[in-house]
Amino acid sequence: MSNRKMITAALPYANGPVHIGHLAGVYIPADVYTRFQRRLGKDVAFICGSDEHGIPITIRAKKEGVMPQDIVDKYHEIIKKSFSDLGISFDEYSRTTSKKHYETSQDFFKTLYEKGKFTEEVSEQYFDEQAGEFLADRYIVGTCPNCGNENAYGDQCEKCGTTLSPSELINPKSMLSGNVPVLKATKNWYLPLNEYESFLNEWIIEGHKDDWKPNVYGQVKSWLNDGLKPRAMTRDLNWGVPVPLPDANGKVLYVWFDAPIGYISFTKEWAEKNGKDWKDYWQNEESDLVHFIGKDNIVFHCIIFPSMMKAHGDYIMPKNVPAFEFLNLENDKISTSRNWAVWAHEYVEDFPGQQDVLRYALLSSAPETKDNNFTWKDFQTKNNSELVNIFGNFINRVAVLTNKFFDGIVPEGDINAPELDQIKKSAIEIKNYLDNYEFRNALTAFMNLARFGNGYLQNEEPWKTFENDLEKTKNTLFIGAQIAVALGNLSEPFLPFTAQKIYDIFNVEQLDWNTVERSKVLIKAGHKIVEKAPLIYSKIEDEVIEAQIQKLEQTKQNNKKTNPNANSMKEQIVFDDFTKIDLRTATITEAEKVEKADKLLKLTVDTGVDVRTVVSGIAESFTPEEVIGKQVMILLNLAPRKIRGIESQGMLLLTTKPDGKLSFVTPDDDVENGIEIG
Ligand code: MF3
Ligand code: ZN
Repeated sequence: MSNRKMITAALPYANGPVHIGHLAGVYIPADVYTRFQRRLGKDVAFICGSDEHGIPITIRAKKEGVMPQDIVDKYHEIIKKSFSDLGISFDEYSRTTSKKHYETSQDFFKTLYEKGKFTEEVSEQYFDEQAGEFLADRYIVGTCPNCGNENAYGDQCEKCGTTLSPSELINPKSMLSGNVPVLKATKNWYLPLNEYESFLNEWIIEGHKDDWKPNVYGQVKSWLNDGLKPRAMTRDLNWGVPVPLPDANGKVLYVWFDAPIGYISFTKEWAEKNGKDWKDYWQNEESDLVHFIGKDNIVFHCIIFPSMMKAHGDYIMPKNVPAFEFLNLENDKISTSRNWAVWAHEYVEDFPGQQDVLRYALLSSAPETKDNNFTWKDFQTKNNSELVNIFGNFINRVAVLTNKFFDGIVPEGDINAPELDQIKKSAIEIKNYLDNYEFRNALTAFMNLARFGNGYLQNEEPWKTFENDLEKTKNTLFIGAQIAVALGNLSEPFLPFTAQKIYDIFNVEQLDWNTVERSKVLIKAGHKIVEKAPLIYSKIEDEVIEAQIQKLEQTKQNNKKTNPNANSMKEQIVFDDFTKIDLRTATITEAEKVEKADKLLKLTVDTGVDVRTVVSGIAESFTPEEVIGKQVMILLNLAPRKIRGIESQGMLLLTTKPDGKLSFVTPDDDVENGIEIG
């Protein structure tokens, strides 16, 4: 096995923050794998960055009414911070709008162009004449030929799920202007993927039948069975890396051409800063290239990007492409647009210092072979019954008892005790699982060692034997300390924050993996540990979980809104509450400005029951003349209050128009004054 590991994690689109689905299905497993490889002493580069081009970005920008650059600047920072807060230990986290990336992806394109690897094809694409732009498939809406949904997109109908092309839409319209788009000829550069079929067949279908995950292998096989077609590597868009050809007039690289090259650009950036040669990682058979991705990225990492690298000629092929399935949240599909997610940056805020709990919970329900589910209850159980009760309890008991009975000095014990063999066994078991990308099994094997340690203490009962068998007590706590330090070391890939706490408690340095596997003694007798050990985990209470569930409940309510601008409903009231309110029809008879108050009008109002003064904050929406004679509704029994020295007796009902101006709530026919409303 090679000594060099070039590990990549899919570049997240910088069009929103990352959520637990991303973390469980790409970034946490990739981080575990990387940390483990580092501990084996491998020469590792762990590279990622924000994917800042493509339609997802421009759509988001349009929605928020800002420029694409604003969107990527904002989300790049949020994403980057979440990763670092959660201990995702990238060697480099960059972005595809970086200068180095423009250079690298343009060079890559030019090389393929000069080698004659592209075909040029003229095709008819929809064009918005008013906007003066070609339209990406996503920018065309029309009626689905399959189910009649009038809001189907040019690439897919979200109602029936059918994949579409824009020409299939009935009554296509441009999302930019609402106009009917016209077909216009345009030239683009295509990579004839069909010419790479035999290479892909030999490399993957014959070469990786046994070592790639079945979900990945199966998807590639089915793509190849269907036959590959040339795919355009350039697009008529105005957001992306410019195509570096004189006759490209404004075209950009296809986002799936530029993004994976980001892995290379960012490796270059890292290498330059760290005195390394990026080619050792990308162009040398001694290097193992591994891509961590979600299942929707399989075709790009197993077919398109490898074909690009093959066409280029200087690059190695990935050794493996461990792709994950999807994680659901409370049995419902995670969705950014529906805000159905647990956002990484919000978790970090809501659970300060508890990053490892999320890492643990997500790893134990990682969607490795099939879709999996995250629930808050489950999260709580994993923390309280596993991390606190088993792992945390064991570490704490060893530390506390060692201090209590032996002044914090690790006592003498049997260095040939059979219990110590369990450490070696666990280390090997975890290693085998991680080598095989089986993260859940690896985590279970780890937790089993904590269970073993906890059970061992429970059986030996050092708190009792201390009374009458000092030698036995010494031995128990010696062995306990070995297991505890082993747990610290073995936990590090999964739970790096916890590992550090354990090293601090036992006052030890981290060991490399092979040392843990080979040595019997990890902490010597006579070693002084810390006096007051902090707890490594703490119980998560029901209220905390309930608050998270409430937050999701709120999302569900919000998703029912027909007007996203409408505020959520206030707390329910009973009918009796309502009957206390005395609402009446009334007419404004006089109006004048209130001196030195730009917003206020002083009104005289005939309420039918009396004539009174009301001060109302409507001066920016109406002139006094406009309101005289208006019939309005008044809250009659509101306690009077002084506004600018004038007593205001009641309140007029108003609402706000889309332009921010106020509008009176009035009866839609003439009624007498003083008539009750209800
Ligand atoms: N941004 C893509 C996604 O979120 C992944 C890009 S991976 C890369 O699906 F290989 F293109 F970089
Ligand atoms: Zn449809």
